[in-house]
Amino acid sequence: MTRPGVPSIAGRPAGEIADKLRAYRAAGPKRDVMTTRASRLADADIDALARYYAALPAVRRPD
Ligand code: HEM
Repeated sequence: MTRPGVPSIAGRPAGEIADKLRAYRAAGPKRDVMTTRASRLADADIDALARYYAALPAVRRPD
Protein backbone atom coordinates (compact mmCIF):
# COMPACT_ATOMS: atom_id res chain seq x y z
CA MET A 1 0.00 0.00 0.00
CA THR A 2 1.32 3.44 -0.84
CA ARG A 3 0.04 6.90 -0.08
CA PRO A 4 0.82 10.04 -2.06
CA GLY A 5 3.55 12.01 -0.29
CA VAL A 6 4.62 9.15 1.96
CA PRO A 7 7.73 7.39 0.60
CA SER A 8 7.68 3.58 0.37
CA ILE A 9 10.52 2.06 2.37
CA ALA A 10 9.65 -1.62 1.82
CA GLY A 11 12.64 -3.54 0.48
CA ARG A 12 15.11 -0.69 0.87
CA PRO A 13 18.47 -1.53 2.53
CA ALA A 14 18.15 -1.77 6.34
CA GLY A 15 21.16 0.50 6.87
CA GLU A 16 19.56 3.23 4.78
CA ILE A 17 16.24 3.02 6.67
CA ALA A 18 18.04 3.07 10.04
CA ASP A 19 20.15 6.08 8.98
CA LYS A 20 17.02 8.04 8.02
CA LEU A 21 15.27 7.20 11.28
CA ARG A 22 18.34 8.29 13.26
CA ALA A 23 18.46 11.53 11.28
CA TYR A 24 14.80 12.21 12.10
CA ARG A 25 15.45 11.41 15.75
CA ALA A 26 18.42 13.80 15.82
CA ALA A 27 16.48 16.59 14.13
CA GLY A 28 15.26 17.97 17.44
CA PRO A 29 11.87 19.33 18.47
CA LYS A 30 10.33 19.80 15.04
CA ARG A 31 6.64 18.96 14.79
CA ASP A 32 6.45 16.93 11.59
CA VAL A 33 5.17 13.39 11.51
CA MET A 34 8.46 11.48 11.28
CA THR A 35 10.46 13.60 13.74
CA THR A 36 7.88 13.36 16.52
CA ARG A 37 7.64 9.58 16.15
CA ALA A 38 11.36 8.93 15.71
CA SER A 39 12.17 10.97 18.82
CA ARG A 40 10.64 8.19 20.92
CA LEU A 41 12.62 5.33 19.36
CA ALA A 42 15.58 3.61 21.04
CA ASP A 43 18.48 2.29 18.92
CA ALA A 44 17.13 -1.26 19.22
CA ASP A 45 13.71 -0.08 17.98
CA ILE A 46 15.28 1.62 14.96
CA ASP A 47 17.33 -1.46 14.08
CA ALA A 48 14.30 -3.75 14.44
CA LEU A 49 12.10 -1.49 12.27
CA ALA A 50 14.84 -1.21 9.64
CA ARG A 51 15.28 -5.00 9.48
CA TYR A 52 11.53 -5.53 9.26
CA TYR A 53 10.90 -3.07 6.43
CA ALA A 54 14.03 -4.12 4.52
CA ALA A 55 12.72 -7.71 4.49
CA LEU A 56 9.38 -6.75 2.92
CA PRO A 57 8.90 -7.00 -0.84
CA ALA A 58 9.30 -3.61 -2.53
CA VAL A 59 5.99 -1.99 -3.46
CA ARG A 60 5.60 -0.68 -6.99
CA ARG A 61 4.63 2.94 -6.79
CA PRO A 62 1.84 4.24 -8.97
CA ASP A 63 3.07 6.37 -11.87
C1 HEM B 1 6.59 2.23 11.57
C2 HEM B 1 6.30 3.46 11.20
C3 HEM B 1 7.17 4.28 10.27
C4 HEM B 1 8.46 4.10 9.86
C5 HEM B 1 9.44 2.98 10.23
C6 HEM B 1 8.76 5.19 8.95
C7 HEM B 1 9.98 5.37 8.31
C8 HEM B 1 10.27 6.39 7.44
C9 HEM B 1 11.54 6.59 6.76
C10 HEM B 1 12.75 5.66 6.88
C11 HEM B 1 11.43 7.69 5.99
C12 HEM B 1 12.50 8.27 5.07
C13 HEM B 1 12.22 7.85 3.66
C14 HEM B 1 13.11 8.53 2.65
O1 HEM B 1 13.70 9.56 2.95
O2 HEM B 1 13.20 8.01 1.54
C15 HEM B 1 10.09 8.23 6.20
C16 HEM B 1 9.61 9.38 5.60
C17 HEM B 1 8.31 9.84 5.72
N1 HEM B 1 7.31 9.28 6.46
FE1 HEM B 1 7.53 7.72 7.72
N2 HEM B 1 7.66 6.01 8.85
C18 HEM B 1 6.67 5.50 9.64
C19 HEM B 1 5.41 6.00 9.80
C20 HEM B 1 4.88 7.08 9.14
C21 HEM B 1 3.51 7.57 9.26
C22 HEM B 1 2.48 6.94 10.17
C23 HEM B 1 3.39 8.62 8.42
C24 HEM B 1 2.21 9.50 8.11
C25 HEM B 1 0.98 9.26 8.49
C26 HEM B 1 4.67 8.82 7.77
C27 HEM B 1 4.93 9.80 6.86
C28 HEM B 1 6.17 10.02 6.29
C29 HEM B 1 6.43 11.13 5.38
C30 HEM B 1 5.44 12.20 4.92
C31 HEM B 1 7.79 11.03 5.03
C32 HEM B 1 8.58 11.97 4.13
C33 HEM B 1 9.09 13.07 5.02
C34 HEM B 1 10.12 13.93 4.37
O3 HEM B 1 10.29 13.86 3.14
O4 HEM B 1 10.77 14.68 5.10
N3 HEM B 1 5.55 7.86 8.24
N4 HEM B 1 9.42 7.42 7.07
